[in-house]
Amino acid sequence: MKTIIEPFRVKAVEPIRMTTREYREEVLKKAGFNLFLVDAKDVLIDLLTDSGTGAMSSEQWAGIMRGDESYAGADSYHRFYNRLHDLTGFDHILPTHQGRASERILFEVVGGEGKIVPNNNHFDTTRANVEHSGAKAVDLVIEEGRSPKSRHPFKGNMDIEKLEALFEEVGPEKIPLVMVTITNNSGGGQPVSLENIRAIRRVCDEYKKPFFLDACRFSENAYFIKRREAGQGDRSINGIVREIFDLADGATISAKKDGLVNIGGVLMFRDDVLAQNARNLLILTEGFPTYGGLAGRDLEAMAQGFEEVTHEDYLQYRIRSTEYLGEKLLAAGIGIVEPPGGHAIYIDAKEFCPHIPQEQFPGQAVVCAFYRHAGIRAVEIGSLMFGYGGNKPAMELVRLAIPRRVYTQSHIDYVIEAIIEVFEKRKELKGYEIVEEPPHLRHFTARLREL
Ligand code: F0G
Repeated sequence: MKTIIEPFRVKAVEPIRMTTREYREEVLKKAGFNLFLVDAKDVLIDLLTDSGTGAMSSEQWAGIMRGDESYAGADSYHRFYNRLHDLTGFDHILPTHQGRASERILFEVVGGEGKIVPNNNHFDTTRANVEHSGAKAVDLVIEEGRSPKSRHPFKGNMDIEKLEALFEEVGPEKIPLVMVTITNNSGGGQPVSLENIRAIRRVCDEYKKPFFLDACRFSENAYFIKRREAGQGDRSINGIVREIFDLADGATISAKKDGLVNIGGVLMFRDDVLAQNARNLLILTEGFPTYGGLAGRDLEAMAQGFEEVTHEDYLQYRIRSTEYLGEKLLAAGIGIVEPPGGHAIYIDAKEFCPHIPQEQFPGQAVVCAFYRHAGIRAVEIGSLMFGYGGNKPAMELVRLAIPRRVYTQSHIDYVIEAIIEVFEKRKELKGYEIVEEPPHLRHFTARLREL
């Protein structure tokens, strides 16, 4: 059969409020042309993020009722622990309220002034937490990972020569750990190969340094390995996932992605001392180690989510949905980061509207046009987000992130149709200027004006 169906039936529905173009025009003006300032009720298809926006299964909702809300040693904690222990093999497993809480604790333990942390590409919050500790974050993704058109099957790979060169240049004492992000969100949701993960392990062994994963999208990454890497096609997803974690000394996870929950995170260690230090900090700001800032019911939902996410029919539907969107846009002549990533499609806004100069935020022009035309909410990853103090980002991208198990194929077809219609009239798109901005993270609250 050619058609890949959504491997679920719908049990509860959440209405989408239809709006007119005129109404959306007003909404845009009131929000200062910043989609972060638009209310969710005014959005038809929300592709702002795949984080915490997924739909839970009936078994997860059943777990919500089962949640044991005891302060210490709750049953829900044991179910959470056992599932993650089976999945990853780690003994020290701490729940946290989300990914950045795990990062904050990890880098408070291992970071600090003068230290250097390599990653393929740090996600924003990871970089911010590394830098908040006083350390420096260094990105070592392979060259292909920086080029939008390169069709390398594992564009998230770390450049092993650059990693070795960094160790030689600064000395191993300055590098507390090596981290790799799977899949590589900041690089377009691109996977990292098993071969590359093994090579990073070898370098870490050579310099006697721990190797950590930012494993938010570990299952999507494992599926890409199964599909694309030689000799991996016959393995189970759980087998590949287990080998990835076996190669690491620890991991941070935002469960809002492949944990299939709306809130939750994980921090894992092999080393007893690191784990003890982290546990002490966890108690300080998150909570007792058997709930880590979450309710018992949240732990239940995670235990079940981390089980369902490795199902192959789910992964096939998931990865294919994203690829389908990417292929249709490519076929219409719209430039995207290729090949399509796991959780999102990234449109090349410079190519979409070459008549808008970089100083006038071409990515934001595209984002506003999608909302105005069809009520679709996407996010700009370009000059508005990163173009501070003379910094000129290499790419102007617009991310369409796909929530898990939320939208059907007809929703995606609507998105494709809308984007192609905007593309056909792209010459009418206008640039923007900022009228109001805060000193940090300006893309969240800045207000703009259409030129
Ligand atoms: N690491 C990666 C690779 C991420 O994509 C994210 C979140 C985090 C860490 C932080 O996790 O949000 O639970 O604190 N990414 C979301 C996104 C926000 O839209 O890409 P968190």
